[in-house]
Amino acid sequence: MTDRGGRACPVLAGGRGASAIYVDIASAFTSWSMARSMTGIRESDMRYDSIEIHFMSGTGNSFRAAAWMAERAKERDADSRLCQIVKFTEGKEPRAGSFELLGMVFPTHAFTAPWLVIRHALRLPRGRGRHAFVVATRAGTRIASIPLPGLEGTAAYLVALILLLKGYGVRGVRGLDMPSNWMSLHWGLNSINSRFIIERAKAGTASFIDAVLEGKRVFRGFIPLVFGLILGPVSLGYLVVGRFFLSKLFFASETCTGCGLCARNCPAGAIRMSGGGKPRPYWTFSCESCMRCMGYCPEKSVEAGHSLGIILYFIATLPVPYYLLSALGDGIASGISFPLVLFALKYVYILVALFLSYLLLSWLIRIPLINRLFTFTTLTHFYRRYHEPDTALRDFWVGNVKG
Ligand SMILES: Cc1cc2nc3c(=O)[nH]c(=O)nc-3n(C[C@H](O)[C@H](O)[C@H](O)COP(=O)(O)O)c2cc1C
Ligand code: SF4
Ligand code: SF4
Repeated sequence: MTDRGGRACPVLAGGRGASAIYVDIASAFTSWSMARSMTGIRESDMRYDSIEIHFMSGTGNSFRAAAWMAERAKERDADSRLCQIVKFTEGKEPRAGSFELLGMVFPTHAFTAPWLVIRHALRLPRGRGRHAFVVATRAGTRIASIPLPGLEGTAAYLVALILLLKGYGVRGVRGLDMPSNWMSLHWGLNSINSRFIIERAKAGTASFIDAVLEGKRVFRGFIPLVFGLILGPVSLGYLVVGRFFLSKLFFASETCTGCGLCARNCPAGAIRMSGGGKPRPYWTFSCESCMRCMGYCPEKSVEAGHSLGIILYFIATLPVPYYLLSALGDGIASGISFPLVLFALKYVYILVALFLSYLLLSWLIRIPLINRLFTFTTLTHFYRRYHEPDTALRDFWVGNVKG
C-alpha cells in the first residue's frame, strides 16, 4: 500500500512483525503506581506535555472529536499530535514514542471496535505506565427534535482493556454521540440535525478531555457496556463474517468518473481501481465498511447494493453446495469427532462464494443496463450522503499510523 499523502506518525516509524502482538499483564497491575513514580506528580496536579491521539475515522466524526481534544490540549500548552490509523501492510511495527498521554478515538461498528482499531491497539508499544484515554464515537440521531443516543457496547472498554493489559494507565473512557454514518442502512442525517448533535458532542469532549488533563479519572458507559456484552455474539459475528459481507455490497454506479479518489483515501487500502479506459473501484475483503468512500465520493456514485446483497446472500448460502458441504462436514466431524470442521467448511465456502460471485458481478456491472438495474434497486441511491461537515478528505492525512 502506498502512503497516500500523509507523513508517517513519529510513534510508528520503526518496525517489527506480527509477533510483536503482546500484552503486558504485570505492568497493567502496576501501571498507575509506575506512572506516579515516573512523573513524580500528584494526581490533582497532573500535566501532560505531549499527547498523541490515534484516530480511525470513516466519515470524519472521530477525526473531529480527536481534533477538538488535540486543540484543547494545545490551549493548555501541551504538544498534541493527531495520527490516523491506516492499514498495517508494510511490515512495520509501532515503537515507543515520546508521548505522555495516548488517546484512541474511533467509531463503533456493530457494538464494538472496528478490527483495524483492535489490531492497532494490540500492536502498540508497551505503555510502561504512560497514560491513555479512549473515546468511541457512536450513532447519535435526532427524531422530531428528540436526540437519541447510539450504543457503543464493548467498543471503548475493549480497547481500554487492551491498553491496560499493555501497561497503559487508562484515565478516561467514554462513548460519544456523533451523527450516525451507517449509510448502507439508512439515509444520512440532514444538516440541522447533524449540527445539533455535533455541537453537543463538542461540549461533551471538552469536559471529558479537561478532566483527563487535570488528572481526574472519567469512566462512562457502563450501561452500554452491559448491553454490548449481551450483544457480544452480534459483534463477534460482525467481526468474523459481517464486515466481509458488507464490503461486497459496494459498487460504483454509472456516474463514476474513475477518478480514484475513493481508492486513494481508503484507510484500509481496500479499493482497487480496475479496468482500462475508465477504471472502476473494486472492493476487497480488507474493507472495514467505514463509509468514507460512500460519504465523500464527489459524484455520489458509491452504492451499497441491497438487491446485490440479496443475490450474494443466496449464492453464499446456495442450498445445493451448502447442504453438500454440511453433509460432508457431518461425515468428517463424526469420523474425527471435531464439530468445528463443519463450521469451517461452511465459512470457507461462504467466503469463496462471495469472492467469486462479487468478482463476476463487478464485471457484469460494467454493462450499463445491469448497472442501472442494480443502481435503481438499491436504497442508497436515494439516500442523503453524510460526512462530518467541517472535515475534508485531506484533513485525515495529518499523519498515518499503520493499524
Ligand atoms: C458498519 C457500521 C456499524 C455501526 N455500528 C454502530 C453501533 O453498533 N452502534 C452505534 O452507536 N453506532 C454504530 N455505527 C455508527 C458510527 O459508529 C458513528 O456514526 C460514528 O460516529 C462514525 O464515526 P466516523 O465518521 O469517525 O467513522 C456504525 C456505523 C457503521 C458504518
Ligand atoms: S466511485 Fe467516486 S471517488 Fe471512486 S472513482 Fe468513482 S467517482 Fe471517483
Ligand atoms: S472501501 Fe470504503 S468503506 Fe471500505 S474501508 Fe475503504 S473507504 Fe471505508
